[in-house]
Amino acid sequence: MQHSRIIELTKENKDVFTLKFDSTIAARPGQFIMIWSPGGKEIPMSLSDTSNPPTITFRTFGETTKTIAKLKVGDRFFYRGPYGNSYPVPTGRVAYVAGGTGLASVNAMMLKYGGDVYVGARTKDDLFLLRNDFRIATDDGSAGFKGTVIDLFLPHVNEYDYIFVCGPEPMVKTMLDRIDRKIKAKVYISLERLMKCGVGICDSCSINGVRVCKDGTVFSMEEVLSLSEFGVYKRNEAGKIEFFVNGKR
Ligand SMILES: Cc1cc2nc3c(=O)[nH]c(=O)nc-3n(C[C@H](O)[C@H](O)[C@H](O)COP(=O)(O)OP(=O)(O)OC[C@H]3O[C@@H](n4cnc5c(N)ncnc54)[C@H](O)[C@@H]3O)c2cc1C
Ligand code: FES
Repeated sequence: MQHSRIIELTKENKDVFTLKFDSTIAARPGQFIMIWSPGGKEIPMSLSDTSNPPTITFRTFGETTKTIAKLKVGDRFFYRGPYGNSYPVPTGRVAYVAGGTGLASVNAMMLKYGGDVYVGARTKDDLFLLRNDFRIATDDGSAGFKGTVIDLFLPHVNEYDYIFVCGPEPMVKTMLDRIDRKIKAKVYISLERLMKCGVGICDSCSINGVRVCKDGTVFSMEEVLSLSEFGVYKRNEAGKIEFFVNGKR
């Protein structure tokens, strides 16, 4: 584990923060680090910018993210990584489809390779890292298209050669249930599961025996479609199975 100092901590909205830290990391878009600060647990975070100095962008959910959001410029935090594979290098027209904090992961790709970003949130106040050309969907219609990011994106699916997706598992499952599986585009998805070790040892992130941390986090659409547990159930911190709502396959 290494330590680093915070160079900038930017409040993006009411509960999302971007933290720039004083390190040089050889990372590729799609990779993540395990972060820790005294008072919290060790948790995985995508790099939202893989240039140096790098950034992470996170929503304050529980004790660890709240602890890190309270740090100040100059404070230290600890990390190890980068871990996981990365998104492949795209050619042709590129789209990114992101829900919630999934935007952090695809943001690193967008900064490096450009392309059209489709982003979904519950409401306008949940949006972050926005740029003028982003295509926005909100559940309540308070910004952009009223509906889900899947509804916004799918009519455009045939315009692209590469599609990169990151978001909550039920969102990704809905997309896979509705997408034409014979489309010309190559589709890659970054998965998020509970992670403890981050390096393929503890099995807490497994889906059908595939370790999201080590074998992914980025998988092709065909690989994800072959995982019968995906979008159906996950394991909580105690290892107990929890079903997703409407998680039938
Ligand atoms: C590869 C990967 C990349 C991620 N990147 C980002 C990111 O860029 N931005 C962001 O806001 N969030 C990201 N997350 C989710 C983030 O790790 C959780 O929000 C965080 O662990 C919550 O910790 P907490 O102590 O603040 O909250 P807690 O109260 O402990 O947990 C809140 C919720 O976060 C999830 N969670 C808790 N612990 C973990 C864990 N060890 N691994 C995965 N999920 C967990 C659970 O769904 C839980 O219900 C990522 C997760 C993974 C697996
Ligand atoms: S987090 Fe331990 S095997 Fe993936």
